[in-house]
Amino acid sequence: MYVGYSMGTTSFFVTMSERPEYNDKIISFVALAPAVYLSNIKLLAITVLKTLELPARMRSQGMISLTLRSDLLDLLIRNICFQNKPEDDICMRLVYMVVGEDLEQYDKELTSVILYRAQPVSWRQLEHFGKVAITGVFTSWEDGLWGAVKPYNLSNVKVPVALLYGKNDHLTDKSQIMRLAVKLNETGMLETVRPACDWEKFNHLDFVFARQVGTLLTKPLVDYIKTLFSKYGPP
Ligand SMILES: *[C@@H]1O[C@H](CO)[C@@H](O)[C@H](O)[C@H]1NC(C)=O
Ligand SMILES: *[C@@H]1O[C@H](CO)[C@@H](O)[C@H](O)[C@H]1NC(C)=O
Repeated sequence: MYVGYSMGTTSFFVTMSERPEYNDKIISFVALAPAVYLSNIKLLAITVLKTLELPARMRSQGMISLTLRSDLLDLLIRNICFQNKPEDDICMRLVYMVVGEDLEQYDKELTSVILYRAQPVSWRQLEHFGKVAITGVFTSWEDGLWGAVKPYNLSNVKVPVALLYGKNDHLTDKSQIMRLAVKLNETGMLETVRPACDWEKFNHLDFVFARQVGTLLTKPLVDYIKTLFSKYGPP
């Protein structure tokens, strides 16, 4: 079984497309908030990558990856972000604009713990997702952000795939999950496409960080994985 979340699902689809022999090693795939089509964030991608030219400018300043210096992080966490309730907090407002708003599942304590552990992100990673968003194609990064579009061949996915989305996930929006569903359905590989849980505000981050992630998502998910295993696994 393979269970992936967000970028962890991107890696799966890239791998199966490029190295189809890996299909033999997987029984079934549960994709949480799959990041394959991202046309809904096209405007954001154009703003960050084309208008602001953020990665290019940062690279030319010698910043080789998206990294937050620990003193800067400290300043943000202690003095600027996460001061009040999330609804009054500018940082959370910005985050919610991208991932969808869910005030009730927000956990302030957990957020600072996570942020203090933030790791650098390659600019190319952002550029790759940006290229996917801007072109509307699940394309490789190979020729660069503005280079040739080289679609991954999703017909090479040969295992049953369950697509689970958040009802209020603005980043991997339902419209884009449905595009992927149609694509997988063409080759008979779509096991299911449905909301990950009934929580109306379930956003992109809730899959990992929701206050009640255990009852809302994880426990039912374990049962679902068992079901798929007995359906497709070894007798
Ligand atoms: C994609 O893969 C399928 C088989 O998995 C193959 O039949 C098809 O020709 C491929 N498409 C392209 C554009 O390479
Ligand atoms: C998948 O294909 C079947 C048969 O063509 C169709 O009835 C069903 O609506 C499709 N589902 C999706 C999500 O595209």
